[in-house]
Formats: sequence, structure tokens, C-alpha cells
Amino acid sequence: MSTARVAIITGAAQGIGEAIAIRLANEDINFTLLDVKGKEGQLENVVKQVEAKGRKAICIAGDVSVEEVVKNVVDKTVEVFGGLDIMVANAGITLFKPFLETTVEDFHKLMSVNVLGVTLCFQYAARQMIKQGRGGRIIGASSGAGKQGIHNMAVYSASKFAVRGLTQATSSELRKHNITVNSYAPGFILTPMNAHPDDDKYGGLGSVAKMAANMPADLQGAEPDVIAGLVAYLISPEAHFTTGQTINVNGGLYCD
Ligand SMILES: NC(=O)c1ccc[n+]([C@@H]2O[C@H](COP(=O)([O-])OP(=O)(O)OC[C@H]3O[C@@H](n4cnc5c(N)ncnc54)[C@H](O)[C@@H]3O)[C@@H](O)[C@H]2O)c1
Repeated sequence: MSTARVAIITGAAQGIGEAIAIRLANEDINFTLLDVKGKEGQLENVVKQVEAKGRKAICIAGDVSVEEVVKNVVDKTVEVFGGLDIMVANAGITLFKPFLETTVEDFHKLMSVNVLGVTLCFQYAARQMIKQGRGGRIIGASSGAGKQGIHNMAVYSASKFAVRGLTQATSSELRKHNITVNSYAPGFILTPMNAHPDDDKYGGLGSVAKMAANMPADLQGAEPDVIAGLVAYLISPEAHFTTGQTINVNGGLYCD
């Protein structure tokens, strides 16, 4: 029987999710990679990179804010790989918009992906891990905006504060099952999320987002592998004692 662990990573077609998949593929782990419909080509590309490291991976297209999708992703993973040990609920969306212009539709969209999506991933993963009885590692995507509200990102900030609350509460309920729950709180990471068509005019990838969010001019963005390295720690044996935490990786942009 295979001793490989099994991980689900959402939002794995690009950016931080892709970097996590490639980093975790250094370990004996098989993967289910999820992203929205329309990104199957990008997902296949990540599958190939993971397979090149000797791992197995399947990809699924679907929306994390739909309960049936999350349930099916966990069921399919168990069917193909025999279990689930690691859930990385990474998928998220952002919105740079003044608070006074933010609509009810914007609110529901952000909350359904960033909060409901993460909640469903935590819940279905935890149920499966409890059934297996061998513990597990659950990781969510919060943000620096989940520690300190950010200019022009009011509802995004609210959604990432919610992930922090979810992480704290679920870690306490799941501790007795040897399941840890933590989240990462990235600062300014150079991914497609922070791309804008005018970036070249202002200094490259992320420069428009940086201005919109009132970030300090001297702050450099980092590549997504800085988050992948933290996730690699959170799934390591010695991280069994780290739970309920939302961990800053932000170049000192915000200090707890
Ligand atoms: N990049 C940053 O500076 C930064 C900072 C703080 C937090 N984060 C968080 O980290 C996570 C990853 O960010 P990123 O920078 O890689 O973003 P990204 O936009 O580059 O990638 C996010 C991926 O999630 C997918 N996704 C979006 N909605 C989805 C849905 N409903 N179902 C399934 N997949 C969905 C997208 O298609 C995309 O491929 C997000 O939760 C984000 O909020 C990013």
C-alpha cells in the first residue's frame, strides 16, 4: 500500500496555489488540484510539473463556493488516492475598489469565495480526516488584510479577517482529532492577482495594486515561493504543535 500523503490545493492553476503544489511535490504527496472552469489548461500545466517530480496528480475544474463541488472534490480524491491528509484552501479573489462604491453584489462575491469557499473546504476535509482517524493538516488563505484593514480593500479585508476567525475556532474544535488548522497572511506577493494592464507604466507587476492599497513605495513584492515554504513547514511533523495561527509572510509590512 502507498505511504504517500494526499493533498487538495484549491486555486492551484496559478500564483500562490501553483507554487504550493510545486513545492509540496518535493515530498511524497499526491495531489488533487482545483481551479475554476476555463483554467483547465493552466491546471494541466501544474499537473505536469508535479508529475515531473515523481508525484501523482489529478485536476478538477469547479467553484469552491459551491458545496456540491467541494464535496465531490474530497470524494474524488479519496476514491483516486485512498484518503486525504492535507487541505490547502487557497482559492480567493480580490477587489480594489473604494468602500463607498462597493456593491452588495461585490460583497456576496467576495464572501462566497473567500469565506464560504474556505469554510466548505475546511469542513469537508475535517470530516474526511476524522473518519480516517490519522489526523491531518488544514491550511487557509488569509492575508495581511486579515490583520490590518487595507485602503480600497474594505470588504476583501473583512473576508480575510473572517478566515482568521475560522482558523482560530476550527483549530480548537479539531485539536482532539490531531488536525491542525493554520492560515497564511501574505503581504505583497507577485502573482496574477496583483496584475494590472497599466503596471508597465508604474514600475512592473503589482505596481498599480501597490498604489491602490497605499503600500509603502520602498516595499518590494515577493515571489509566491515564500508562502509555499511556510506551507511546507505547516505540513511537516514538527508543526504538529502549531495550530490556530494566521502567520504573516509580508516583508515587515505589518507586525503583530
Ligand atoms: N498575491 C497576494 O499579494 C496575496 C496577498 C494576500 C493574500 N493572498 C491570498 O492568497 C490566495 C492566492 O492568491 P494569488 O495571489 O495566488 O491569486 P491568483 O488570483 O493569482 O490565484 C488565485 C486562484 O484562485 C482561483 N479561484 C478564484 N475563485 C475561485 C473559485 N471560486 N473556485 C476555485 N478557484 C478559484 C483563481 O482562478 C486563481 O487561479 C488568495 O486567497 C489571496 O486572497 C494573496
